[in-house]
Amino acid sequence: MEKNGKEVMYEGKSKVIYAGPDEKSVVIFYKDTATAFNGEKKEDLNDKGKLNAAISNLLYDYLSQNGIETHLIEVIDETKVLAKKAEIVMVEVIVRNVAAGSFSKKYGVAEGSKLNNIVAEFSLKDDELGDPMINISQITALGIATKEELKEMEEKTLRINDLLSELFRKVGIKLVDFKLEFGRFDGKLILCDEISPDSCRLWDLETNEKLDKDRFRRNMGNVPESYQEVLTRLLNV
Ligand code: TMP
Ligand code: ASP
Repeated sequence: MEKNGKEVMYEGKSKVIYAGPDEKSVVIFYKDTATAFNGEKKEDLNDKGKLNAAISNLLYDYLSQNGIETHLIEVIDETKVLAKKAEIVMVEVIVRNVAAGSFSKKYGVAEGSKLNNIVAEFSLKDDELGDPMINISQITALGIATKEELKEMEEKTLRINDLLSELFRKVGIKLVDFKLEFGRFDGKLILCDEISPDSCRLWDLETNEKLDKDRFRRNMGNVPESYQEVLTRLLNV
């Protein structure tokens, strides 16, 4: 498949992956499309692609300065980056600092409830199955990742949680929860995909106002404006 004269390797709900200039890289394009409930709700939101790209690039730079290896090689333009072509581990790692979203729904706890410890969960990356939650023994039984890889992913994720929570706190934002993806590259596990208001829950520290994709999921309006607010605050840290 070709788009704008370039070979499309994969088109997801919010990004397109093009073949890169060499075998070991890809070009990732951030679309304006927002989806929720496994694609059931879908809309194009002004500037969402460039806002998510800018936020994710900034966070990846910060993580990389703090010793976390990411797929990011360089920023091409406002909506495109050159990234390492990693083999994506087909599980998503979710971290929760505060109860919200599916955790609140599943376990009957009010959103915003304090948790006694940080929660780490895995979900199978499979849209057709609706990304079901999956545990470590199920992941290893299916041969998706090894126990050692999962341990490393969890350790890296908790370190990333510490780093991001601190950064967001500085700009008056509570990092409620977020999702990460990892990939195998040159024998190492590296951070892949994006970290943006699409993949995090971000609440204003003082008012608890939502500054993330829940505004889209829950028809609250002002989605790009909230993403812009996150970016503006991060740029002024
Ligand atoms: P959840 O509460 O719906 O399980 O979501 C937990 C976190 O993961 C939240 O910050 C949003 C993010 N997330 C994604 O990045 N992609 C997804 O497909 C889903 C369902 C959640
Ligand atoms: N990313 C998922 C979807 O597009 C779910 C979500 O973020 O709520 O449906």
